[in-house]
Amino acid sequence: DWTTGNVIEEQVEAIRSLVGDRRAICGLSGGVDSAVAAALVQKAIGSQLTCVYVDHGLMRKGETEQVEKDFVAATGVQLKVVDAEQRFLDALKGVSDPEEKRKIIGREFIRVFEQAQAEIIADEGPAVEFLVQGTLYPDVVESGGGTGTANIKSHHNVGGLPEDLEFRLIEPLRKLFKDEVRMVGQELGLPEEIVQRQPFPGPGLGIRIVGEVTKERLDLLRDADAIAREELTAAGLDRDIWQCPVVLLADVRSVGVQGDGRTYGHPIVLRPVSSEDAMTADWSRLPYDVLGRISTRITNEVQDVNRVVLDITSKPPGTIEWE
Ligand code: XMP
Repeated sequence: DWTTGNVIEEQVEAIRSLVGDRRAICGLSGGVDSAVAAALVQKAIGSQLTCVYVDHGLMRKGETEQVEKDFVAATGVQLKVVDAEQRFLDALKGVSDPEEKRKIIGREFIRVFEQAQAEIIADEGPAVEFLVQGTLYPDVVESGGGTGTANIKSHHNVGGLPEDLEFRLIEPLRKLFKDEVRMVGQELGLPEEIVQRQPFPGPGLGIRIVGEVTKERLDLLRDADAIAREELTAAGLDRDIWQCPVVLLADVRSVGVQGDGRTYGHPIVLRPVSSEDAMTADWSRLPYDVLGRISTRITNEVQDVNRVVLDITSKPPGTIEWE
């Protein structure tokens, strides 16, 4: 019968016998799936696993530290952090189009990750053979795959590596749904903030700035987002909402009156949504006093923001993210 204990035990066994004395690499995104997959494989093979975290500079406040410190402390995992912020900022310079931004971020991410992989292989020798991925059951069904225990299939060649080197995939979460993944993560002792984390898009805050992405704008959005998250958590609303994107309308300016006079700043959009699977969503009816506190704090504490607006569009027609 199904218990998190059984799942962990079974996977640890399977991964151990599969990997033997070889080595594995796992990319961490800051999200639940990759964190739990990595923690499981770490439990099975310990220091034969190396994790890679690409810091693209588009994360929210505290998220990179959460991976670097809290995740490492909880698991003892060997972690390689690549600080690629400047590279991403350079690549995004002058770009406002959402699809263009997504393409650039995706492309740079793969390049940086593959570079890190090549470095690990150069350091560790050719025994690195496995790539860990946090694929869940719904992803497997979607792509028409089976339900192997520690499924193995060949992975495309990775740039910068010898032609004939193929990674085999370890996907220890292939039989699990999201809520089960969270339970396994909890059982493995991962921090609550990681296990209960709401969805966050791969391109990060890069697609929550309407307009060009710059360091200044990212810092501003990080401050506003941190306030919104703090107040939602304090109000006990984290479990009630699916997620709450906070968006900076950098290309829009609005007139305000703050302190000694007139300001000409930017609006921040709050996009709290309720959803089952993100395919459809409804805007969350948050309590007015919570919305009021968020608005007051953001306009008081975040320079250059003089207006907070609430997105009351369902999906469809509006997507959850603005870009
Ligand atoms: P949309 O905006 O399409 O978002 O309604 C649906 C869900 O997917 C997340 N999202 C992404 N997640 N990479 C991701 O990993 C992406 O490029 C991406 N775009 C959107 C979004 O946060 C929401 O949960």
